[in-house]
Amino acid sequence: MEVLEAIRVRKSIRAYSPNPVPKEKLEKILEAARLAPSAENKQPWYFVIVTDPERRKRIAKSGRFARFLTECPLVIVGCGDRQASPKWYAIDVAIAMQNMVLAATSEGLGTCWVGSFDEELVKRLLKIPERYNVVALLAVGYPKKKFDLLGKIMHLIRRRKKLRNIVGLEEYGGPLA
Ligand SMILES: Cc1cc2nc3c(=O)[nH]c(=O)nc-3n(C[C@H](O)[C@H](O)[C@H](O)COP(=O)(O)O)c2cc1C
Repeated sequence: MEVLEAIRVRKSIRAYSPNPVPKEKLEKILEAARLAPSAENKQPWYFVIVTDPERRKRIAKSGRFARFLTECPLVIVGCGDRQASPKWYAIDVAIAMQNMVLAATSEGLGTCWVGSFDEELVKRLLKIPERYNVVALLAVGYPKKKFDLLGKIMHLIRRRKKLRNIVGLEEYGGPLA
């Protein structure tokens, strides 16, 4: 799948089939993270792959908007090393995670970024060392096959700001031709 096509068709998936993510697809997704750019090439990231249902349940319960992680077969926990890159760790981890999102999309998988979680609980549960912050979680799996009319409409409408409101030509507010 072309990158622009993956960007276009991607949408947040919050209902998953229990089918596991095949190993070769997971490897491609992780390779996409590994190849991401980072400030001074510090690569201040670590990704914990969580498939264990009990652990997913604990994580899911820790956030108001993370409940669907109980049924999502794979959760990737994006950690950033504050010591390695105090200024850029969060941005670097986010770039790597969005690479994973696009790779997963092109492999026919659904994803959803999750920022709703209890960081201390996740760190304790997954034995993540103190010097890391948990930047975000990524749900990955096959979308549940059900006719999701509302989701389809929302995706078509795509509530996004107009380009003219987020881009300035030559200066802030400079009108686009
Ligand atoms: C950093 C970040 C955190 C997010 N956290 C959550 C979350 O905790 N729960 C959730 O259901 N969606 C979460 N989302 C998904 C957004 O709600 C979603 O991307 C946005 O509504 C646009 O919809 P779309 O992804 O389908 O285009 C998050 C997205 C980002 C980028």
